[in-house]
Amino acid sequence: MTEKNILRALKGETLPVPPVWMMRQAGRYLPEYRATRAKAGDFLSLCYTPDLAAEVTLQPIRRYGFDAAILFADILLIPQALGLDLWFVAGEGPRLSPVAEIGGVAALRPAEAIHDTLGPVYQTLRILTRELPPATTLIGFAGAPWTVATYMVAGRGTPDQAPAHRMIAEDRAGFAALIGRIEAATIEYLSAQIDAGAEVVKLFDSWAGSLKGADFDAFALAPVARIIAALKARHPGVPVIAFPREAGPRYAGFHAATGADCVALDNSVDADWAAAHVQTGGCVQGNLAPGHMVTGGQALVDETRRIARAFSRGPHIFNLGHGITPDADPEHVALMIRTLREP
Ligand code: CP3
Repeated sequence: MTEKNILRALKGETLPVPPVWMMRQAGRYLPEYRATRAKAGDFLSLCYTPDLAAEVTLQPIRRYGFDAAILFADILLIPQALGLDLWFVAGEGPRLSPVAEIGGVAALRPAEAIHDTLGPVYQTLRILTRELPPATTLIGFAGAPWTVATYMVAGRGTPDQAPAHRMIAEDRAGFAALIGRIEAATIEYLSAQIDAGAEVVKLFDSWAGSLKGADFDAFALAPVARIIAALKARHPGVPVIAFPREAGPRYAGFHAATGADCVALDNSVDADWAAAHVQTGGCVQGNLAPGHMVTGGQALVDETRRIARAFSRGPHIFNLGHGITPDADPEHVALMIRTLREP
């Protein structure tokens, strides 16, 4: 069998049609997802029930034939496995017991202990390796340490990550220790995901854009580079995608600075600029604005073509610039894929 398209792009090949998948492709915009989620009860039960988590991972593959499936789980399972309470408030989002309340960084469980909690995630991957079509690539993932730390410090999502920035200002060594603990756990977690069948892993740094200068280097760049180096040593040849969302000009040089095989671009990045300044370092992924999945029409077609054309001279995986939203129309996803594959 010829190699899977996603793996070819990740190795640096320029393909005539870019392979495509979507962040949050298993999600509430799909009626079949909502039905399975109702069966599971709540979101975390869905994450920890391997048969159902595998089922929702497969749903968008059946419906659209995406080139990749992404494990169904969440970046906040790591804080939970490290000992924080985690729950989701409907219509609001995640809540955790802040790390200061459980006795600080020293009270977190050791990295090796995460497998006690995360076994069902590895089981989901093992099911998927049997059930996915042969051309579909299986992607595992984790949050990058900075983004995970912002939730562990604040106990919730915050618009500006102020609690984490405050900890950097008041207790930089303590914050660096927290980053180190998350980093060690993330290496264990992604390594176990690869052992269970993940062919590619992705690090989501959703809040990278709120770090500047030396803080960006210390907390967005260095931990990601160390995780990638550790994974490459243990699993040579397994590609890594990094997503430093809203990194702006810091996207330039990000491949070289971290060792990432692919850098995912958010939709604030101009595609022509990124072709000249980011794709020169390796494969890029992105970066259609998720709003087009709500509005559709000719603008969706034009923008899909424009992005595919801008990145057509180098390795590119087509994706959105952030996750698809619950109000998206499933027909618009089909239109995006037709536009790419039947130009
Ligand atoms: O992309 C995929 O389809 C794979 C699964 C996946 C989920 N979350 C499922 C999910 C992945 C890769 C994530 C990553 C994630 N989770 C991130 C990083 C990417 C990003 O979006 O910036 C972050 C910050 C989280 C934390 C998180 N999980 C939040 C803030 C929320 C609530 C907001 C929301 O969209 O409701 C979640 C819940 C969540 N994770 C849902 C899904 C499908 C919705 C849960 C539901 O069904 O109610």
